[in-house]
Amino acid sequence: MQGLVYAAHGAPLDVLERVELQPVSATPRHVVVEVLATPIDPMDLLLIRGHYPLRATLPAFAGAEGCGRVVSVGDAVVEVSVGDLVLLPVRVGAWRSQLVVAAEDVCRVPGNVDPVQASMLRVNPITADVMLDAFVTLRPGDWLIQSPGAGSVGQFVVQLARQRGVQTISIVRRAQRAALVRSLGGELVFEDGPDLVRQVRGETGGGAVVLALDGTGGETAGRLASCLEPGGTLVSYGAMSRRPTQVGVDALVFRDVRHRGFWLRNWTTANRPEIVHERLNSLARLSLRGEIAAEYALSDWREALQHAQRPDRCGRVVLRPSFAR
Ligand SMILES: NC(=O)c1ccc[n+]([C@@H]2O[C@H](COP(=O)([O-])OP(=O)(O)OC[C@H]3O[C@@H](n4cnc5c(N)ncnc54)[C@H](OP(=O)(O)O)[C@@H]3O)[C@@H](O)[C@H]2O)c1
Repeated sequence: MQGLVYAAHGAPLDVLERVELQPVSATPRHVVVEVLATPIDPMDLLLIRGHYPLRATLPAFAGAEGCGRVVSVGDAVVEVSVGDLVLLPVRVGAWRSQLVVAAEDVCRVPGNVDPVQASMLRVNPITADVMLDAFVTLRPGDWLIQSPGAGSVGQFVVQLARQRGVQTISIVRRAQRAALVRSLGGELVFEDGPDLVRQVRGETGGGAVVLALDGTGGETAGRLASCLEPGGTLVSYGAMSRRPTQVGVDALVFRDVRHRGFWLRNWTTANRPEIVHERLNSLARLSLRGEIAAEYALSDWREALQHAQRPDRCGRVVLRPSFAR
């Protein structure tokens, strides 16, 4: 058994260390979970670098989310049983073979879901789902625009919007990513660039774009805002470009675009755990698909992290601690 630990903040390949773990046992209100799959999210890299608004007490196990199987339960546990498939709590340190966790903090999901897909539920699908409901009342036929359209959040936005009858305009950085977005049901896909606003207006046939979801930042955020109808809402939830969000006066003043922010943590802390778990279960039952770049055994963590940080990566890199090497 092994796990990935960091004792200082810095570049993940510099500060992470693989450690051997002793077998763990359940205490009365806790369970032991064997981790089956755990993705490498942008949040993980920010957390390890010390660039995330929250910091772990160091040394810490890395890994913001994951899915595993309950292998033993404490005497007083009623929430789950041995053999159940569960989602780990967020930022528990999922990049390890096994861990002990409070029974009330795990979320049981149907036993027939794919653990790799389930391992991503805690962060991106629920972010997409909540953002679609939290800011404007979307009606069937409405348009929303979003970037990065082929990113993990973007893929779930497309699938969940389609289920609501909402049409999506997805913006991609690399033109070759358009096919993936279309295969998920995205109506319109555009490559980002200075001509974006004119192209979008031309293709939507004057249809009102009521919501813009931005995880890119920089000038892209401003372009999304410029595509909105007067009074439309731009929601900033990330900044993959690492550049400050630039929204023009034309959008904010002359067309009264509203600019909001979304952080999943604020939503989860404002809602009771049962509500969060219910929502995760509903998502687990929808058979959403997030693109997987590759799966790696924990012992191949260096290759996995290199892959996760490649600018040409397509989809999520997933660690499989239960893969023997
Ligand atoms: N606020 C919240 O609660 C919340 C929740 C979840 C995620 N997030 C944040 O949302 C953002 C997206 O997360 P994700 O998991 O969807 O990301 P992801 O799947 O890892 O990547 C998203 C996309 O970003 C684009 N991209 C990569 N590097 C870029 C760059 N330098 N400039 C512009 N675009 C770039 C790529 O688009 P192409 O494929 O077109 O090249 C990639 O597909 C991250 O910042 C993440 O931290 C926030």
